[in-house]
Amino acid sequence: MASAPTEPPAKDAPLHVAIVMDGNGRWAKRRGLPRKLGHPKGVEAIRRVVEAAPDLGVRWLTLYAFSTENWGRPAGEVAEVMRLLKHYVNSDLEKLTREGVKVRILGRREGLPPDVAEIVERAETRTAHNDKFFLQVAFNYGGRADIVDAARALVAEALAGKIDVNAITDAAFEARLSTGGLPSPDLVVRTSGEQRLSNFLLWESAYSEFVFPDVLWPDFTPDHLQSAIDEFHRRERRYGAVADDVLAAG
Ligand code: FPP
Repeated sequence: MASAPTEPPAKDAPLHVAIVMDGNGRWAKRRGLPRKLGHPKGVEAIRRVVEAAPDLGVRWLTLYAFSTENWGRPAGEVAEVMRLLKHYVNSDLEKLTREGVKVRILGRREGLPPDVAEIVERAETRTAHNDKFFLQVAFNYGGRADIVDAARALVAEALAGKIDVNAITDAAFEARLSTGGLPSPDLVVRTSGEQRLSNFLLWESAYSEFVFPDVLWPDFTPDHLQSAIDEFHRRERRYGAVADDVLAAG
């Protein structure tokens, strides 16, 4: 992951887009359905977006599917999200593998039910050698937990004499996050009109652009993604520096 501040990427550089898929529960409620029935519709939106993303200039797509805080939801809803992850991998893994997608699950493995941990492992192993498109699913993920885990790893290495304290740099820290090796997200999208990060990619989004489309996740289409990317391209990324025209004006 590139350490910021840095030079803005070229205009046509492939993008890393990260999405907080919000609004499944409201989508269902508005239809008089139980909240959990919004999540299968959310999986349909995931399929549409994964399919369309490479043609929209996206090479890395990171989806926030289940946070470390989501365990506090009703047991039936948690079970439904677990079931859907397994169902998605079971039904789509071969297609993703054929299409050159490398799947990676971000977040803590411990705490996942054994059958979910097993399927996550299978998805990663099966697609490990792919490199056309990178799909990260944040599952049992929390930005703070991830930072704590990276800190613990560094402390353990320092105590074991494997790393010098002075060698603990931004890059060394990033490498130990569950996103280690990925570029930072260029664009973070949160659907449903809410404008919060909710513990998603806290370190990684330091220089991301944010777009908040007013659409519930189950209704999200490739056109919404295209609009968010168009908005991203209208932004001027400065990475803590000042704009060229400001510099020229002194
Ligand atoms: C947010 O909507 C959505 C979630 C917390 C779950 C997202 C999970 C999936 C779409 C299924 C996971 C499966 C795969 C394949 C990764 P919300 O329930 O918070 O909606 P609300 O804000 O309207 O209540």
